[in-house]
Amino acid sequence: MSTQTLTEAKMSHHDLLKDQVAIVTGSGRGIGLAIAKKLAGAGAAVIITDITQESADSGANEIASSGLKSFSTVCNVTDPESIEKMTSTVMEKYSRIDILVNNAGITKDTLFMRMKLEEWNAVIETNLTSVFKVTQSVIKNMSKANYGRVVNIASVIGLHGNFGQANYAASKAGVIALTKTLAKEYASKNITCNAIAPGFIDTPMTQKLKPEIKDKYLEFIPLKRFGQPEDVAEAAFYFCTGGSYVTGQVIVVDGGMFM
Ligand SMILES: NC(=O)c1ccc[n+]([C@@H]2O[C@H](COP(=O)([O-])OP(=O)(O)OC[C@H]3O[C@@H](n4cnc5c(N)ncnc54)[C@H](O)[C@@H]3O)[C@@H](O)[C@H]2O)c1
Repeated sequence: MSTQTLTEAKMSHHDLLKDQVAIVTGSGRGIGLAIAKKLAGAGAAVIITDITQESADSGANEIASSGLKSFSTVCNVTDPESIEKMTSTVMEKYSRIDILVNNAGITKDTLFMRMKLEEWNAVIETNLTSVFKVTQSVIKNMSKANYGRVVNIASVIGLHGNFGQANYAASKAGVIALTKTLAKEYASKNITCNAIAPGFIDTPMTQKLKPEIKDKYLEFIPLKRFGQPEDVAEAAFYFCTGGSYVTGQVIVVDGGMFM
């Protein structure tokens, strides 16, 4: 490729999402932040949202430090009022929403026998019911515009289950089934809805695991490394920039752990 074509290619990549508005939930750090950065790098106006204004701001500051712009606002995905406020703030400021990435999520791991109802409910509320609430609030605007890209962050655990993660596995399996249903209901509105099922990604969520558990996981990963948030961002980027004939799918980003 000549230098000029290379520069043109870089420029067009930079502009792929120009004029588009993207909301990423739980993007103060981790996978959400990496996705937000990737979308901002392609020219989208990215809304960093998180459970507190401080955590949203910290994501936005990191984006700013890499020379990109974003807008941060609070959105607690378990609180309907907070969600509605976020959506109306974004619509007032930008008048459109093209991309929604439902990323916010938590774990409360413990063996099934010991799992308390509160631990079950907290994970289902934050990981699954939130996707219902946030998407319902946002998708009506996409529907009116006859365009939208919804990307839900599920997990390989939602496909395969895992010791000590009954609540988490059920929530992520639910996210996958919800993704497929939305794909069917909104296809006529030119809205695609896909899910990403990451394997073991190096973020604060997994940094709290014991070293011996991490080593165990590594044994089963053919690519012999943990994933980085940027690996997941690549998949999200695909759904938002290409893949216009791809909907209702789950892309597994796990270094080959499950195949
Ligand atoms: N790290 C992994 O190995 C892995 C694997 C598979 C799936 N995932 C999924 O990826 C997503 C991101 O996880 P991560 O690894 O970046 O975790 P993380 O803990 O680093 O980040 C999660 C973010 O979600 C936010 N959040 C939590 N509760 C919230 C709420 N009620 N409202 C708004 N924001 C809230 C947190 O403040 C945090 O910024 C989650 O859905 C997680 O289940 C992670």
